[in-house]
Amino acid sequence: MFENTLNGFSAVAAPTCQQVTHSMPPEKVEVFKSLEGWASEWVLPLLKPVEQLWQPQDFLPDPTQPFDAFSEQVRELRDRTAELPDEYFVVLVGDMITEGALPTYQTMINTLDGVRDERGASASPWAKWTWSWTVEENCHGDLLRTYLYLSGWVDMCMIERTVQYLISAGMAY
Ligand SMILES: [Fe+2]
Repeated sequence: MFENTLNGFSAVAAPTCQQVTHSMPPEKVEVFKSLEGWASEWVLPLLKPVEQLWQPQDFLPDPTQPFDAFSEQVRELRDRTAELPDEYFVVLVGDMITEGALPTYQTMINTLDGVRDERGASASPWAKWTWSWTVEENCHGDLLRTYLYLSGWVDMCMIERTVQYLISAGMAY
């Protein structure tokens, strides 16, 4: 889907895919529907309130610090990342690109036959779980993006272009 986003390589467009209109046969939809009560009782209570969630900012230089203190935190981050082998950056960039296509994943999950969250306001526990899953995944992308940006070791423009190719290609499942 992409060759490499480190310096010297280029973004590559994802291939187009055939559209799929149903994710599962009716009997499997029935199974999903029959589990909604169980999911409401046992799965949704596992979700933490937003105030108790970790935040990307917890792991990043604090921009509300005075400029010198913030600059020092950025310098320390750059010193640490300077020790990382290229292979680590390839993995981090690949993950950031994957996380960047979160709109595609949420759209795909919303349209699964067992979820069918047509307007983003469904009462289905599967839909509610998906919203909170999206919150968590969004944190991954935000943290990776800012971390890689501050590291100064990757071509952010090329990564962003690759994310745009990935999102614009949609997803067939
Ligand atoms: Fe993630």
